[in-house]
Amino acid sequence: MAKKKYWQQFPIYQIYPRSFCDSNGDGIGDLQGIISKLDYIRDLGVKMIWLNPVYKSPLDDMGYDVADYKSIHPDYGSMEDMDLLIQEARKRDIRIIMDLVVNHTSDEHEWFIKSKDKNSPYHDYYYWRKGKNNNTEPPNNWTSMFTGPAWEYVPEVGEWYLHLYSKKQPDLDWHNPKVLEEVESIITFWLDKGVYGFRCDVINQIYKESLEDSKTHAMSGRGMEFYLMKEGNHKILKAIYEDIFSKREDAVMIGETFNVDKENGLRFLNEHEFDMFFIFDHMYIDKSYNPFWPRRFKAKKFMDIIYQWQLEMPWMANYLENHDQRRSVTRFGDGIHNEEVAKLLGLLNLTLRGTPFVYQGEEIGMTDLPYYEMREQCKDVAVLYILDIAKRLHFPNRFALKFVNQFNRDHARTPMQWDESKNGGFSSAETTWLPVNPNYQTLNAKAQEKEGSVLDFYRKLIAYRNGSKTLQEGSFKPLKFKGNLFGFIRECEGERLLSILNFGKKNVKMPAEYLKGETIISNYPDGGDTLRPYEARLIKLS
Ligand code: GLC
Repeated sequence: MAKKKYWQQFPIYQIYPRSFCDSNGDGIGDLQGIISKLDYIRDLGVKMIWLNPVYKSPLDDMGYDVADYKSIHPDYGSMEDMDLLIQEARKRDIRIIMDLVVNHTSDEHEWFIKSKDKNSPYHDYYYWRKGKNNNTEPPNNWTSMFTGPAWEYVPEVGEWYLHLYSKKQPDLDWHNPKVLEEVESIITFWLDKGVYGFRCDVINQIYKESLEDSKTHAMSGRGMEFYLMKEGNHKILKAIYEDIFSKREDAVMIGETFNVDKENGLRFLNEHEFDMFFIFDHMYIDKSYNPFWPRRFKAKKFMDIIYQWQLEMPWMANYLENHDQRRSVTRFGDGIHNEEVAKLLGLLNLTLRGTPFVYQGEEIGMTDLPYYEMREQCKDVAVLYILDIAKRLHFPNRFALKFVNQFNRDHARTPMQWDESKNGGFSSAETTWLPVNPNYQTLNAKAQEKEGSVLDFYRKLIAYRNGSKTLQEGSFKPLKFKGNLFGFIRECEGERLLSILNFGKKNVKMPAEYLKGETIISNYPDGGDTLRPYEARLIKLS
């Protein structure tokens, strides 16, 4: 068997740099702040860090609007700080993964600025088109992922440009071979600096096969049938592999693949396009697009989705939260058993087959903010778009806020809670860029430096996983139980590990045949034949 890759063995920790640790007291997290916490990250047992974008950017979409791929935003520090982070991380056996955002750039990127000149070679880096009806209407009826038209008119050019996200994020035209050349130069630049690989942002929609009108009626993402996982997209990813990664064995490529299906998922993996990719199906399960009709979380549905992907893919990028999702404890728990839920989710994520991703704060069970009551508090550009539309339609503010609350990405982006001091130890500033969750005084990393905490649970489980061939390589077999009881077996070379989860508030009888095993870790102190609310155990079966 081929030698196992680093990414096949260890968990990845996701850092949202703006909210991780502020070293210079400006209320914004930075690279030096991350460096100061590297020992904490090492002690957690993770061996890779995925950094959300830290490039120069006007921050309209918090860095997913890149103005220069080869420089660091001054809010976060300098290129020297970045080099130091890569080195210091390596000293601790930790590798850095960057975010590669190349479906679009910022409208402040020099390519886009130059592209406004029709005679410039950069004009063809983007989708500049004449509009319909004598140029008075957008070239097609597509809508942006953040709602509203996907086109913006620029009078000085006399043309419209395509933006699948905010209007400050113009889409690159991947039909132009120069775009591939530029992106390969960015990838090489960072690999040469010693980064281990990339998480590739919305990478399965970069190739627009045609710009026809869509016949669907989606409020956001209308037109997707013309750009989601097209042949041209696969071709580009293969070219990147051929040109770069086939020659660099020790690297990783992770796809953020919106609405991916299993057929394309298999192609991504089997045809070397990615080493792993993120699915979204399990993240939709409690989201409702009807403001008057909320959708309740159902563990059965959630687990079914996870099982299906586990069964059908050779490898998965497993995650239960990230910077775009609300906090998993709040979403998937009952609001009462938060600690138990946090550990249960940790056990699930860390014992599935694939690479587990742990998002900053997940390892201490951070929760959503109580509620965003005022528009002024929201920073998430997607939410601001929706609130603007709601206002124009005279939609009652209370409903609008409630509706966006289920999507509000700011929930996950509040500062990391380090200790009980001012701003949760995140920053010494008067105000932080997003408010710190008021529960920081009791819920913080320092308070969890003790046996039995969520943090302690994560450390122990990750340490176990890092040494367990069965969890790293074992097969996956789901078990069928009734109600909210779930279980699956990982098996390798005769060793069988059972993850058993009571994903509900009621006590459940432990199935008799699994009572004999040895409990490796559990979120309740003592075992027994009953699984209590949200009880989860990892058991070595005899
Ligand atoms: C990805 C990012 C998200 C961003 C979007 C556009 O989904 O995770 O934060 O807004 O892409 O770049």
